[in-house]
Amino acid sequence: MPAKTFYLETFGCQMNAHDSEKVSGTLLEKGYTRVETPEEAGLVLYNTCSIRDKAEQKVYHRLQQFRREAGRGKIFGVLGCVAQQEGEKIFERAPHVSLVAGSASYTRLPEMLVELEAGSRRVTGLSLETEETFDTPFARRDNPHRAYITIIEGCDKSCSYCVVPFTRGPERSRSSASVLEEAARLAASGYTDLQLLGQNVNSYRDPSPAGWDFATLLARVAETPGIRRVRFTTSHPRDFVKAIVEAIDDHPVLCDHVHLPVQSGSDRVLERMQRLYTRSEYMCRIEWMKNARRSLAITTDIIVGFPGETGEDFEQTLALLDEVEYDSLFSFKYSPRPNTAAMAMADPVPEEEKTARLATLVEKQRAIQMRKNSALVGSVQEVMVEGRNQAGQWIGRTSQNRVLNFMGGSPAMGAYLPVRVMRAGPNSLAGEAT
Ligand code: 5AD
Ligand code: SF4
Repeated sequence: MPAKTFYLETFGCQMNAHDSEKVSGTLLEKGYTRVETPEEAGLVLYNTCSIRDKAEQKVYHRLQQFRREAGRGKIFGVLGCVAQQEGEKIFERAPHVSLVAGSASYTRLPEMLVELEAGSRRVTGLSLETEETFDTPFARRDNPHRAYITIIEGCDKSCSYCVVPFTRGPERSRSSASVLEEAARLAASGYTDLQLLGQNVNSYRDPSPAGWDFATLLARVAETPGIRRVRFTTSHPRDFVKAIVEAIDDHPVLCDHVHLPVQSGSDRVLERMQRLYTRSEYMCRIEWMKNARRSLAITTDIIVGFPGETGEDFEQTLALLDEVEYDSLFSFKYSPRPNTAAMAMADPVPEEEKTARLATLVEKQRAIQMRKNSALVGSVQEVMVEGRNQAGQWIGRTSQNRVLNFMGGSPAMGAYLPVRVMRAGPNSLAGEAT
């Protein structure tokens, strides 16, 4: 097996996906070659997620699968959120692992690689004490048209169910100059679609003397010549100010889409979750968006079965779905996580009840999406071409983040073109190039 080959598998959110692009770029820069299977690789890396127990278990399954390979000279590394959360315990549970590093330590990755190459069998990078975001010129982006840009790392909130403050540390914003420079560099190399990333992207606060807030940064990024679409994720309702909607109004480059996780429609549950807003404060943000000049798609995250969630609380979440009419949502059963405040809360909701609530919620949302998507039949939407599906249709994405598959034309990947919507399903649209 060639000495300097690596395999990298990524779990979890877009922050993790982008971290992997940076890790991969750093390794390529150090002379490593990327391979497609763990069997071919000298260095096997898993960039992990620990947001729910299921996500965490995945990495242990993977490590078990390839345990025997360690004897054949392969080096195994666990990166990301499980690494940060479990630390050296990973060495006990999976003794064939030699590298455990959380995202705040990736700036030290080149040094850690040198230690591994020199034969060290227990290398860790677990400090959260870093001022720097992992800002590297070497990110190897997976997509030639859409690029992620991290603008803020970590989280200073303390939602009672969430591991993120423990796995990603305190909030650190990147300077506005460095963000704009990266946006301009990406535009110059052909990217047209940028996605600003952060756990709480709208808590952004420019550390440089300019002192920009998030809405200002958003507007300036949207003004980058050559950029046609800008998205941002994830926003926290507490820090979601009207100026963000005004920036969207003023800049058509800012996509017609906001992801604003609500988690629950019940004030009692929101308080126990320590979300720092009430339902009516959340609805006030929704009103701003509904009154925007363009029609904005609104999407959210919901947790069902939080400790102590009653049938009545859950009914309030269902009612919120009717009130907001989300364009799409991610829903999850509550999963107890280590170190979190909710871990100690009594009155767990039984697993079957969580499953039943989740199914009810998914069913309700499906009907809403069917209705909303059907209303778009006959309209013309601009899509960016992302690929081709097995049925031979082009896959496009609208500014509202809807998937619109279409026939006709022979567009290039990454092209923008108008498509007439002919049919609608709950999760996508189908149409023809005009
Ligand atoms: N259990 C279930 N879902 C969770 N999320 C975060 N922590 C948990 C947990 N302990 C969900 C939230 C968040 C999304 C990224 O994951 O809805 O917005
Ligand atoms: Fe998972 Fe959260 Fe870590 Fe993203 S930041 S990988 S969602 S635990």
